[in-house]
Amino acid sequence: MVLFMPVSPPARGEESFAERLVVANSILRNPPRILIVDDEENIRAILEKIVEGFGYPFQSVKNGFEAITLLNQERFNIVLCDVRMPILDGYQLIKSVLPGQPHLAFIMITASADAKTATKMFQAGATDYITKPFQAQEVRETLEKTIEKQRKKNEDRIYVGTIEKTIETQSAMLSEALKIVDTSHRETLEALVYALDAREHETQCHSRRVRDYTVHLAKKAGVTADLLPLIGQGALLHDIGKIGVSDAILLKPGKLTEEEWLEMRKHPEIGYSMLKAIPFLKGGAEIVLSHQERFDGTGYPRQLKKEKIPLGARIFAICDTFDCMTSDRPYRKALPMEMAVEEIKRFAEIQFDPEIVSVFLNIPLEEWRTIREKASLLHELSGGHGAKYL
Ligand SMILES: [Fe+2]
Repeated sequence: MVLFMPVSPPARGEESFAERLVVANSILRNPPRILIVDDEENIRAILEKIVEGFGYPFQSVKNGFEAITLLNQERFNIVLCDVRMPILDGYQLIKSVLPGQPHLAFIMITASADAKTATKMFQAGATDYITKPFQAQEVRETLEKTIEKQRKKNEDRIYVGTIEKTIETQSAMLSEALKIVDTSHRETLEALVYALDAREHETQCHSRRVRDYTVHLAKKAGVTADLLPLIGQGALLHDIGKIGVSDAILLKPGKLTEEEWLEMRKHPEIGYSMLKAIPFLKGGAEIVLSHQERFDGTGYPRQLKKEKIPLGARIFAICDTFDCMTSDRPYRKALPMEMAVEEIKRFAEIQFDPEIVSVFLNIPLEEWRTIREKASLLHELSGGHGAKYL
């Protein structure tokens, strides 16, 4: 009677990296443990005798089901396995066990040694096979060959494992170093924006709002994601050069004289010189230098025209004007967004790039309001110290 077993015992889970190294090391240091699986008692007895004579520790079971149970409980290195067995044959046993215990070597014992059977056994994952009837010498030689192969394979696994471990450790160190660099970059930015805010008595976090607007408009204009942080940085720090303008001019309540204006107009170049010396801020420096240029070439400092003005600066110019018009100033109240939009439309081709203006006009005002509200909320949450939420 053929027993039908509807449920197989659970296979051991996938070996982790650490487990694989432990197995590989133990194989190199300890004598291999052998499991004999055969349903015929007399063949089991012969195999036990041969393996015993070899001096290796072993156990034997009479079917695939018992083998899986034992393999789940104890570590073996080699399975001497009959192909045809009533409960789980040799192929099913390999299929159930090998994925979870790839260190195992299966030596199959088969009655037929034709090419088709041999191919099927190797495809299933067998390391070698022995044909019945067999001689003790043949079993010994096959075992020796398999043990040698396993030793070689495990030496390689330890070597590869050590390299993997080294790479893993170095990656962890690098990511830790990058985290520290990232924190230090944020702190530098915070310090710069805080310094500028303090000089200008800026209380409405204009720089940060303009940064958020600029990044939003840049995305809508199709700027690729990798350039957005640079454009954002340039927008955030656009007026950083004002740190180099004297208080008498920067904080003068009345109108500036022509001479004072000349001094004030140096701030894009001062800002550019400051940023280009700091490697992680270099990308935004070009926007800082060009943020006062106008599309018709009447801006400063280089009187650049049209597409000669860097794209980031053309996008920024619209957002800067939009934010200035919609924010309270000491000399006037904020204008409604609708009115600011009309002004920007009117100055397309003159002050602004008309193509970017049309992208701007297609963005619903609701989106700008959301960005503005979020910026105010974060400003309040940071206790008025806006730089904290950069
Ligand atoms: Fe400026």
